Amino acid sequence: MTQALAHPNIALVKYWGKQDRAGNMPATPNLSITLSELCAKTRVSDSDQFEFQLNGQVVDDSKVKTLVDSMTQEFNLPPMRIESSNNFPTSAGLASSAAGFAALVTAIDAHCQLGMNQALRSEWARRGSASAARSVCGGFVALVPPDWQAQSLAPSKHWPLEVVIAITSHDAKGVSSTDGMERSRLTSPFYNQWVRSAGDDYAEASVAIAERDFAQLASVAELSCLKMHSLMLTSRPALSYWTPASLACMDRVRELRNSGEAVFFTIDAGPQIKAVCLPESADQVAKALADVPGVREILRCPLGEGARVIDD
Ligand code: DP6
Repeated sequence: MTQALAHPNIALVKYWGKQDRAGNMPATPNLSITLSELCAKTRVSDSDQFEFQLNGQVVDDSKVKTLVDSMTQEFNLPPMRIESSNNFPTSAGLASSAAGFAALVTAIDAHCQLGMNQALRSEWARRGSASAARSVCGGFVALVPPDWQAQSLAPSKHWPLEVVIAITSHDAKGVSSTDGMERSRLTSPFYNQWVRSAGDDYAEASVAIAERDFAQLASVAELSCLKMHSLMLTSRPALSYWTPASLACMDRVRELRNSGEAVFFTIDAGPQIKAVCLPESADQVAKALADVPGVREILRCPLGEGARVIDD
């Protein structure tokens, strides 16, 4: 039996749309921060047949099955039982699949002694879910051409940002990211412009991170997030992941920033707000978001490390 742990990551330059070829490659360069505190733990053991359990329940997950089948074929692996658990809500816009696939590939690599390096683990995690490629690395992470294997831009200690997550709903999302981004690619009139402008957003964010320029990172990260949500809203049928509380939290973050706090928001395919802060603003931001009507829970996460094998 082998166990691995991985954390979710939050994209600051978003991935929303795939290339039209095999391998689950994003259409645009993207960049994220890996969180600590929240985690997926995945245990792999020998078994007579494939079985996947999520949070203690046997689940028929076609993405997990497809990835394990591909790895089994490629490396001639025996059947395995896979038990995964998350210490945070699943499928609610908190990157549970990113953490899950990064932990899964890391656990299979170790259990079956495949000897993969980080880049190869990232590539296999990407085939499961492209954002999972980034959770293999810690700190500030890029997923860019030509290889589309995630690479570390800077370790977490380079710039100790903190993420305050405002949970506005515990419900699982209605339309998966995979289906939603394909709908946007096929139907949003803004999709081509999104693809054309992503390289500039990526370049600006990577410079802001290298120079620890919070105002510049705030500006480009909110832009990338709102461009992605504009694609969602202009898809046919429209995709809308926000609750009234998500909107109220965005306003509250803007007010906090106008009053001098170092904070910006980002939101994925779900209703939760992720407020990225400098550490000196985190207490104030957490307090303010907790008071927004409709916010059910606040989670706080400093930046974390990449996927790794752990003792039982
Ligand atoms: C909104 O990585 O879940 O979180 O590759 O189809 O599994 P698949 O999609 P997924 O999409 C993540 C979308 C996002 C933005 C991001 O993380 O970059």
